[in-house]
Amino acid sequence: MSVRSIEWHDGKVRFLDQSKLPANEVYIETDDETVVARAIKSLALRGAPLIGIAAGYGFVLAFGRLKSDDARSISTCIERTTHLFTSTRPTAVNLFWAVNRMRHTAIDSTGKSMDAIHANLLAEAIAIHTEDEEKCRIIGQLGAGLLPNAASVLTHCNTGSLATGGDGTAQSILKVAWEQKKLKHVYIDETRPLLQGARLTAWELQRLRIPCTLITDSTAAFLLQQGKVNAIVVGADRITLNGDVANKVGTYGLAVMATYHEIPFYVAAPTSTVDFEMETGREIPIEQRSGTELTKIGEYQIAPAGVDVYSPAFDVTPHELITAIVTEREVLRKPYRDALEALRGQNLSALSQKGPSAGHAG
Ligand code: MRU
Repeated sequence: MSVRSIEWHDGKVRFLDQSKLPANEVYIETDDETVVARAIKSLALRGAPLIGIAAGYGFVLAFGRLKSDDARSISTCIERTTHLFTSTRPTAVNLFWAVNRMRHTAIDSTGKSMDAIHANLLAEAIAIHTEDEEKCRIIGQLGAGLLPNAASVLTHCNTGSLATGGDGTAQSILKVAWEQKKLKHVYIDETRPLLQGARLTAWELQRLRIPCTLITDSTAAFLLQQGKVNAIVVGADRITLNGDVANKVGTYGLAVMATYHEIPFYVAAPTSTVDFEMETGREIPIEQRSGTELTKIGEYQIAPAGVDVYSPAFDVTPHELITAIVTEREVLRKPYRDALEALRGQNLSALSQKGPSAGHAG
């Protein structure tokens, strides 16, 4: 069964603290938007679509605690909440896209009663959430069609119901393919340093009863050389106009290996992951993680304290290494710039581009 990783419940946000998985299933309930922002920063809430959804609910909480409905208080609340969430994590564009939707809902509601503003914001946050659920469903259907029968798939990081408002992006494809009886096996990269593959994807696939095997990230090349995989499917945190893809660090290496071994490399993401205002992956702000995530496992020191560490959370896969990008609109093929320009023509992200921008990097 898929997990409901976040929900609006009785005037509060209720979410699963992913930093505690798989050992403990701990749910946090809060009416304080700063708790939600801290959860995003600490990866208790994570995954590109999910952090956008969480920021949406965070706006509702911020306005729920606002006492005055005068234009000045509303404007201050909008700016303060925008800064609160856009300064959490810089790479996944879904966060900025959702913040912009919430900002514009608040701006458009100015002049109405506090109750009406709050109701409009809640409706918008729920729309962001339910739209994502539907996008995941369609991505699963479209993506499963790309896999061969008896598919053996390698995936990286966590792209499931923990990372989204529905069944996931790449993982939704695996779920649908499994239901269609065309998926034989999934190999999961453990995904160092924070082990989203080992802790979260393995946990989710076990719950879904999908046969899976955990590997270290450095085993992937050997697995491909042995012919044990016939497709790689990953998610994305930001896709630029030329089709370059930022995703969890290690993704680029997998794409290089897939190209060498002539295995299809698929990226799955909703169109809210496309940054229509960014030309190439070189411009994507890449989050740097703390060195202690490499030098320690929990409290256990595994490298000498004080050693220099380089730990980008994401890398950028050049578009030419990607076989197809599965969105909820269609399966995009090369040349991606043309395909993405056509999508932009459909005015998909009008909301993210209307009016003052929430910016890109934190
Ligand atoms: O640092 P994380 O755990 O938020 O990184 C998540 C990923 O890189 C996922 O692959 C990506 O967000 C796609 S999720 C549907």
